[in-house]
Amino acid sequence: MPWRNELCSQHADRKAASLWRELRTLESSPGRTVTIAGKSFLNFCSNNYLSLANHRQLVAAANAATEKYGTGATASHLIIGHNTVHQQLESRIAEFVGAEKSILFSTGYMANSAVPTTFLGRNDLIVQDRLNHASMIDGARLSTAKLQRYPHCDSVAAEQILTKRDLGRKMLTTDGVFSMDGSIAPLADLKTICDRHHAMLVVDDAHGFGVVGDTGQGCLSSCGLGPRGNTLMLGTLSKAAASFGAFVAGDAIYIDTLVQHARPFIYTTALPTSAAAAALKAIELFEAETWRRAKLVDNIAQFRKLAVAAGVPLTESTTPIQPISVGDSQSALQLANHLQQNGIMAIAIRPPTVPSGQSRVRITLMTDHTREDIENLIAVLKSAP
Ligand SMILES: Cc1ncc(COP(=O)(O)O)c(C=O)c1O
Repeated sequence: MPWRNELCSQHADRKAASLWRELRTLESSPGRTVTIAGKSFLNFCSNNYLSLANHRQLVAAANAATEKYGTGATASHLIIGHNTVHQQLESRIAEFVGAEKSILFSTGYMANSAVPTTFLGRNDLIVQDRLNHASMIDGARLSTAKLQRYPHCDSVAAEQILTKRDLGRKMLTTDGVFSMDGSIAPLADLKTICDRHHAMLVVDDAHGFGVVGDTGQGCLSSCGLGPRGNTLMLGTLSKAAASFGAFVAGDAIYIDTLVQHARPFIYTTALPTSAAAAALKAIELFEAETWRRAKLVDNIAQFRKLAVAAGVPLTESTTPIQPISVGDSQSALQLANHLQQNGIMAIAIRPPTVPSGQSRVRITLMTDHTREDIENLIAVLKSAP
């Protein structure tokens, strides 16, 4: 096969450019510490923000659901995969985020494909923040709508695009909390702009759900907005909720349209009931155990204070995502290796996940980190060559 040679040389190029990606095989849960290849590390890279992934109530809920409903849903939602727990979860999510209705998806990636492909076609416009998650960009491409991107969090530039382009339907999509930067979208401004231009605003709050706002309703709620009217909220159940799957919440007219037409909903198996049951329990704990968010906020503040004192370069992020920017891919890999050699697991994030020249080590904080863990992290960052 001539492909083989081509692929071999592509791999060699990727390695030479410090862009080769490697799987790490975890031998533990993604808790405060993780075990990899028999070695224990402090975990500063998972999205288990509220440390719920091995909460005994989530584990018990997942186990009980498996006992009752079996291991897999074995059919799509519209065939016979949709059961009582899925139904309860959809209602609970809608109530929690203040929407009329919600719909579950098997992953956030699929939800981000579903929204633009359901509502837009080739005569329409989709406007996106330049740093949006890849799944939103892929969804936009799949929709065949005209995709235009604006500089990060620049609502003036976003409006200029909406003003200039007079295509059919218009949609503006943005991360709530940006996955690799930790910054928060200017949602109040974006909502005003969308109202002015009769555009739909879609907020992917994968990293805000459970984390941002008084009880974790997310970024929309924290600026007095919600998934109502021309606004849809998308969230994943795989990060703070420590489960699996995703949702889109909004007015019934939009959610019903997704049920009818969203191919990533219709043509796939419903998520396992154990995952839905764990997510349901997680939402209960978002409200019942508010100390988890308070502790997370303290950890973020402690990290930032110590980092500034140690001369570790920070961004403006106030969220658990705290990137340490280093620039080129090789330097990012070197910093991640240094951390790992000193017992800290944090990963180098390189192109195409982030723009060229903006490689970084993405630190994520979680509730279970102790003061000593954070001091240890800062000491190792400070000692980096
Ligand atoms: C902002 C954002 N949206 C969507 C996704 C995809 O969600 P999922 O992992 O459920 O496919 C991710 C990360 O996984 C993300 O960071």
